[in-house]
Amino acid sequence: MTQHTPVRWAVVGSGGIARRTVGDLRLCEDAQVVAICSRSRERAEAFAQAHGLPLAFDDFARLCASDQVDALYIGTPHATHFALASQALRAGKHVLCEKPMTMTADETRELGRLARAQGVFLMEAMWMKFSPAMRRAAELVDAGAIGEPRLLQAGLGYPVPPDGPARFWDPALGGGALYDMGVYTITLAQMFLGELAEISVTGTMRPDGVDLEQAITLRYTSGALAQLATSITTLIPPRGWLGGRRGAIDFKEPLFSPAGFKLVTGQPPAPPTVEDLDFPREGAGYVPMFRAVNAAIREGATGHPLHPVEATAEVLSIMQTIQAELAAERDARAAP
Ligand SMILES: NC(=O)c1ccc[n+]([C@@H]2O[C@H](COP(=O)([O-])OP(=O)(O)OC[C@H]3O[C@@H](n4cnc5c(N)ncnc54)[C@H](OP(=O)(O)O)[C@@H]3O)[C@@H](O)[C@H]2O)c1
Repeated sequence: MTQHTPVRWAVVGSGGIARRTVGDLRLCEDAQVVAICSRSRERAEAFAQAHGLPLAFDDFARLCASDQVDALYIGTPHATHFALASQALRAGKHVLCEKPMTMTADETRELGRLARAQGVFLMEAMWMKFSPAMRRAAELVDAGAIGEPRLLQAGLGYPVPPDGPARFWDPALGGGALYDMGVYTITLAQMFLGELAEISVTGTMRPDGVDLEQAITLRYTSGALAQLATSITTLIPPRGWLGGRRGAIDFKEPLFSPAGFKLVTGQPPAPPTVEDLDFPREGAGYVPMFRAVNAAIREGATGHPLHPVEATAEVLSIMQTIQAELAAERDARAAP
């Protein structure tokens, strides 16, 4: 592949996120969406027709063997990611995998080793880190605009109906709030607060292993703290703020793809200075991530410096610790 050849993408899974992201991939000049892969021929053909894609696969092995596809965007439920991504990487395909990349840190590290050995690209689709607002916030924090970051508060929760999407409620698919929503809040804490020292959590997990909600506190070696709340039974507005010794960044909704933020600075008793920053959104918000991934693939990179595979593995390791703690206190009364 040269710097000038468009990356030819296949989307894996014909569900909600696949439908939402195809349009954004298409907005990237250096990408072509050429294929869909579904477990059903009917759904593959319907998706291909609806989105004008030339290729429809109902056999993942055949997709991996196709010489008309360079890269796979995996948009299937969490628990299926590892098997699909490893098969794709072994076949020499680049992989951008929906969050969370896998169910364990070891699985993600194994995929990372595989990608490096094969010389292909691998990344978790953590679009939050690529949003222009988050990039600017990170630059400001690095430049000392709020002083040393000390406290992050972030929340994200939706009351998912009991008959809502199976990926939230089926333990075999990795259901629960932590892997679906906690992945964002923990990634955010890891992004800004340095080296992790301590994890504490309280929450509710059903006997079948589906966690309903959790309040997490992460303590960092610097003494910085993150307070994170996630739920699939309660509405928690997708908001967050990062406070430092000289100011704060107050993210606008939605936290996982913020429209902007308020930069608050100043020392009491003087009134604070508030700078309101807004950033234009391209498509549904995935475009900056897709552009960065296309460029990295065309440069021959095996990962992206803004969201390396090791950062994904560290978040998964935190989620595994939290899940084990919640599992130790499963609650037979947890509803629904
Ligand atoms: N970045 C974001 O903003 C965002 C938003 C939502 C979800 N996600 C992530 O995207 C992934 C998929 O979420 P979604 O909301 O798109 O889920 P979804 O609507 O249930 O779609 C998932 C699709 O995966 C395919 N699939 C393959 N194996 C499956 C299995 N064993 N069980 C069920 N479906 C299977 C199905 O397509 P076929 O039947 O055609 O094979 C299904 O339609 C999750 O990992 C989630 O965390 C990300």
